[in-house]
Amino acid sequence: MREERANGHDPAVNVQNVSKSFGSRSVLENVSFEVYSGEAFCLLGRSGIGKSVTLKLLIGLVKPDSGRITVDGHSIGDADAATLAEVRKKVGFLFQDGALFDSISVADNVAFPLQRHTKKSGKEIREIVQEKLHEVELADEGKKMPSELSGGMRKRVGLARALVLDPPILLVDEPSSGLDRITAAEIYDLLLRLKQKRHVAQVVVTHDVIGARELATRFAVLDGGKIAAAGNLDELAHDRNALVRDLATVAEV
Ligand SMILES: Nc1ncnc2c1ncn2[C@@H]1O[C@H](COP(=O)(O)OP(=O)(O)OP(=O)(O)O)[C@@H](O)[C@H]1O
Ligand SMILES: [Mg+2]
Repeated sequence: MREERANGHDPAVNVQNVSKSFGSRSVLENVSFEVYSGEAFCLLGRSGIGKSVTLKLLIGLVKPDSGRITVDGHSIGDADAATLAEVRKKVGFLFQDGALFDSISVADNVAFPLQRHTKKSGKEIREIVQEKLHEVELADEGKKMPSELSGGMRKRVGLARALVLDPPILLVDEPSSGLDRITAAEIYDLLLRLKQKRHVAQVVVTHDVIGARELATRFAVLDGGKIAAAGNLDELAHDRNALVRDLATVAEV
């Protein structure tokens, strides 16, 4: 984080002056942020404001209209298919809806990136899949089909799949939505361990500031196409902008 900046390390994720519109609808206007190894950057904002679009820009699923995006040192906006494939091996992505393949089992879903991107044996793949399912508390569910799972379980399978290549960069879209408080806390503990032990750079989209407050060092609120405020949770909770304060305030329960 700060030390790495002082040491001159490049950010794992670097977004500079990025704008994106869909038709006449402007979603992002000159958005900039950087995320370093060992750091979790948490993006907050109202529904439909552009949080998922921001994550999709980082793996080239959505193309920026202008600005510059580098991920793991690769320029993304204008990347060819080979570069994007290379980058996607380094970036674990948990989609908001899990994005599981419905016609294959849970274990095969998690195994998919290993089969696609590595030459590991069937036995090695099975062992890694089991380990990742265990990490998300689904060790006994590998044989199930996605349709047999709850929403929260699908989310955790998506997370196991995002982690299966041990990526140095992780993008997670609402990792705790649909989960009870205890399971959500376990997921955030897992993300915290990845940050502390493996120095994974993370971009975390969430509304769950209770879950994310231990994990994220920096929070940003997206509003009206721009980063309306950025800082630690305490700073945002005292921001002049009422929306920022609302999103950053941990509700008493
Ligand atoms: N592929 C697309 N084509 C056209 N419009 C899109 C596309 N993807 C997203 N949008 C629009 O961009 C805006 C931002 O969407 P996005 O999914 O990023 O919202 P979000 O902040 O993630 O919201 P939520 O919290 O509800 O998930 C929305 O108006 C959405 O309709
Ligand atoms: Mg979204």
